[in-house]
Amino acid sequence: MKRKILVTGGTGYIGSHTVVELIEAGFEPLIIDNLSNSNIGVLDGIRKITGVSPVYENIDLKDYASLNKFFQKNQGIEAIINFAASKAVGESVKLPLLYYRNNITSLLNLLELMPKYDINNIVFSSSCTVYGQPDTLPVTEQSPIKPATSPYGYTKQMCETIISDTVRACHGMKAILLRYFNPIGAHPSAEIGELPNGVPNNLLPYVTQTAMGIREKLRIFGNDYNTPDGTCIRDYINVVDLAKAHVVAVSRMLDKKNRKPVEVFNLGTGNGVSVLEIVSAFKAATGVDVPYEFAPRREGDIEKVWADASYANKELGWKAEASLEDTLASCWKWEMKLKEAHDKEQNA
Ligand code: UD1
Repeated sequence: MKRKILVTGGTGYIGSHTVVELIEAGFEPLIIDNLSNSNIGVLDGIRKITGVSPVYENIDLKDYASLNKFFQKNQGIEAIINFAASKAVGESVKLPLLYYRNNITSLLNLLELMPKYDINNIVFSSSCTVYGQPDTLPVTEQSPIKPATSPYGYTKQMCETIISDTVRACHGMKAILLRYFNPIGAHPSAEIGELPNGVPNNLLPYVTQTAMGIREKLRIFGNDYNTPDGTCIRDYINVVDLAKAHVVAVSRMLDKKNRKPVEVFNLGTGNGVSVLEIVSAFKAATGVDVPYEFAPRREGDIEKVWADASYANKELGWKAEASLEDTLASCWKWEMKLKEAHDKEQNA
């Protein structure tokens, strides 16, 4: 019998890639998603890649009664991977209560229901945002947690604390907190990828939409940072590599290989790449130019951050493997696929 894993936010960007990797590793993922920032068509993409149509229910995790019913109906779930959350930093500053309610209430409901249904394992999507601007680079899991610069960031910190406190109080429960750096790219099949709503906030969708001519110019936020070329530095990690880390994390808990009830891992490549370097690497990978201009710094941006991923590499036996070139090529393949679908729709 396949082991059942609940993936909340399973039609989202990282969630959908993780569902694919879980299926390919022999698990049975079940998806809950309220489609607040994703599309039902993602399920087709998952089916095309894997040949499997996972159980899917449109449930808002804030709805305790519906979630309870879901668990009643779907017994035998052994672990939860909780992706479902609002994630736009800027939006969180404008709509803090939305972020606190969405991200915190959802987690509380899951944690409250887990013991009732004998589910002991949770993997949580955290973020390098919890480190703020680190004093020393690269950041290790021991680097201090800095005051959050946005309600979004604060929800990630709070959720980490809520999970840790709950695990401490609840015998047998285990958690793995995964701190993602900057996930980019798409599945090599281009059947699933990132689907930003409206004008993208994140760099890569903006780059590919500019390359496609949907946006006139990429605006590079700040060229006067204390970095070699003046633009911000991030650790861009391929989304499939990131997804695979979730399979390893779940397996680790199910196989009882975890060292502590709560474990924390940085998921990054260990390489810092600037915004300008992304633009030139994109050109090198695809042959396509990305027109850009420099714009003022974006409020709340961190100057530079990249991971020390050696603990994850050693403990999880996992490593980000994709090259930046292949990852950027996958972004472009996905953008072209979106264009093809869009053109087809227009001509229908
Ligand atoms: C941030 C958060 C991350 C969160 C993510 C969700 C930090 C360190 N990271 O990532 O935790 O999950 O948002 O959205 O707080 N850029 C441009 N022009 C653009 C878009 C981006 O120059 O049009 C630059 C940004 O200034 C930044 C880099 O590209 O230097 C990456 O930006 P983005 O993709 O938005 O991710 P983060 O802000 O790093």
